Amino acid sequence: MASTTASPHGIIGRPVPRIDGPLKTTGTAQYAADFHLPGMVFAVPVQATVAKGTIRSLDVTAAQAMPGVLEVLHHGNVERIYRAVPNDPNATVSETRPPLEDNRIYYWGQYVALVVAETLEQATAAAAAVKAEYSAETPQVSGELEPFAGTWHTVSARGKVDEAFDAAAVKVDQTYGTPVETHNPIELHATVAAWAGDTVTFYESTQGVVNHRNAMAQILGVPRENVTVITKFLGSGFGGKLFPWPHCALAAVASRRVQRPVKLVVTRTMMFSNVGHRPLTEQRFRVGASADGKLVALRQDALNHTSMVDNFDEGCGEATPYLYSVPNLTVTSALVQRNVGSPMAMRGPGAVPGLFAMESAMDELAVALKMDPVELRLKNDASIDESNGQKFSSRHLRECLETGSAKFGWSKRTPAVGSMRRDGKVLGWGMAAASWGAYRFGCSTTVELGADGKVRARCATQDVGTGLYTIFAQVLAEKTGLPFERIEVLLGDTTMPEGPLSGGSWSTATVLPAVAGAADGAIASLLQIAASTPGAKLEGADAKTLRLTEGRVHRATESAAQGVPFETVLQAARLNRVSADSTSGSAFEDPKAKGLSMHSFGAQFAEVEWEPGIARLRVSRVVTVIDAGRIINPRAGANQIKGAVVMGVGMAMLEETVYDPRNGQPINGNLADYLMATCADSPEIDVTFLDYPDYALNSYGARGIGEIGLAGVAPAIASAVYHATGVRVRKLPIRIEDLLQSEMREA
Ligand code: MOS
Repeated sequence: MASTTASPHGIIGRPVPRIDGPLKTTGTAQYAADFHLPGMVFAVPVQATVAKGTIRSLDVTAAQAMPGVLEVLHHGNVERIYRAVPNDPNATVSETRPPLEDNRIYYWGQYVALVVAETLEQATAAAAAVKAEYSAETPQVSGELEPFAGTWHTVSARGKVDEAFDAAAVKVDQTYGTPVETHNPIELHATVAAWAGDTVTFYESTQGVVNHRNAMAQILGVPRENVTVITKFLGSGFGGKLFPWPHCALAAVASRRVQRPVKLVVTRTMMFSNVGHRPLTEQRFRVGASADGKLVALRQDALNHTSMVDNFDEGCGEATPYLYSVPNLTVTSALVQRNVGSPMAMRGPGAVPGLFAMESAMDELAVALKMDPVELRLKNDASIDESNGQKFSSRHLRECLETGSAKFGWSKRTPAVGSMRRDGKVLGWGMAAASWGAYRFGCSTTVELGADGKVRARCATQDVGTGLYTIFAQVLAEKTGLPFERIEVLLGDTTMPEGPLSGGSWSTATVLPAVAGAADGAIASLLQIAASTPGAKLEGADAKTLRLTEGRVHRATESAAQGVPFETVLQAARLNRVSADSTSGSAFEDPKAKGLSMHSFGAQFAEVEWEPGIARLRVSRVVTVIDAGRIINPRAGANQIKGAVVMGVGMAMLEETVYDPRNGQPINGNLADYLMATCADSPEIDVTFLDYPDYALNSYGARGIGEIGLAGVAPAIASAVYHATGVRVRKLPIRIEDLLQSEMREA
């Protein structure tokens, strides 16, 4: 295992508990819907009950006359809601069609009106009293994407894939499918919008306060400086909360209309139709190898569905071009329109469904070759990124596979289907490789050392539940030697310096340079003051010879105890604080990262228990080995990976959003009918981080760990199921019905 650089105060890389833990466990943490403003009223949307057509008539008279009702907004009376500028990366919206824009219906559940009333109950009752009539057409919500007659586009290509595949000694040619999955963070989407004159404040459930502000300013037609977005805590988002959805604009427009703060909470059922999902995918994989298992051809043709109003490309080819060494490769993709709400990124978009297909195909290839599936991956490990000829900044997939094998006990695996037993159950062992991109974007942060003895950081990014508050605190603790009680981290407020969107697992890698730089700047300023304050203990010292350790300023040649508490230095100089701002750039502009292919890697090993007599399948054990650079907080990091593995169990065996073909309604749009993995479904999970710093990405060597944990879990489970039952399930989720054909039923 790689050695990590020792840090002065030893807190980087330590498994420290989250600094915001007590706020969450005591219910003190305020999520968007927890904000109750004076005079606040409630908005409830009315949803279309057809998925395609037009609104023929909308009768709001009864609703308008009901007790407490202040306003009913609809396409006939709503003010102009502007469109977002297409492809503006700093002001992105999820669904580009503004709500209530016209009388056209594109998906079931689309908002057709919004009731604003004094209480939630009054608004809910009045929303139910709005009478809409539609000219409905038969919607397209089919779960089959083939046959597809549209336009394919090439994502990546090298060599001559079709010739090489035709000539290959051993081949797999199969189509794999992943279903619509709905993001189900515990916290519902919610917006509290409050106007004061020309300015508006949002208390939002968003993964990006800065983007949200920019997008809302554009949509509402006001300057950016008139919009403030606050997200102190997020009950996760998994991508569903990256960008604003129509309800955000509606809450703001309603608030402007009634001149009162408006709260709009999206219900769990609405979350199945109006705030994104992972789209349906169908992916044909052709994999060819020589008889000894060297890949010669790899072709992926991936379809995903999108909505009628947006072109959402899932990007199923995310990991395909660089994961393995193969001379002939082609990845193509295309979109198929459906009458569903717009899809959105969901944890590991592209890579996760793409790896389900590719790693399942690799397992099928291993079976065809009569070769161990770990051996097959090792044999085809890539030493460079063959899609572009770049070196990897840091790639340890081989060690992930080897470490995972050893920890899992893979050498004891017998390859024949159904050949492994324990306590009367059939065991299946499967594995898959994993990868996810590594990114760093721009970030600004302010750090101040206060005369009150505290150090503070401010940044307009947000902790989506992953531990970012604690990452900031660890850097401040490392730099100042102060305990967490004297550290304040202030995030989730657009009045602060601009920080990153919480997406793509890039937050930690992105904020580290800025917070470290700002802390260094504030400390340098403090040391200058210590050396130049008349009458102070360190007056006349060369600031370069001074240090801040354990919160005390001292000479480098002396101990911290011989120095002065930093707040005393500030008090002596009659300063309230010293502070510094730091802005760090994107890795794309960094010479250190230039020409390098940057990704995280991993290996997933899964064990299933199959009880053929009663057709009971359980995932009993997962070993996951992750190469995600240096791990800043192994406790929060392992928590991310474990959560992702549980999500992977759900993806493999439970999750699927099903649409009614008659009217396009998600028919399992609630947490009783949409199955997700719970504690009872969770296997024993063993998480290992390799902890090799990736200094090309930042000076701490950290990459991201949110999404890589989900990559590869579902194919490892599907391969384990094949090993136990002999049934190869190529279309998720794996259902008991799929396994009833198992030969092992009679075993
Ligand atoms: Mo992530 S799917 O970029 O929130």
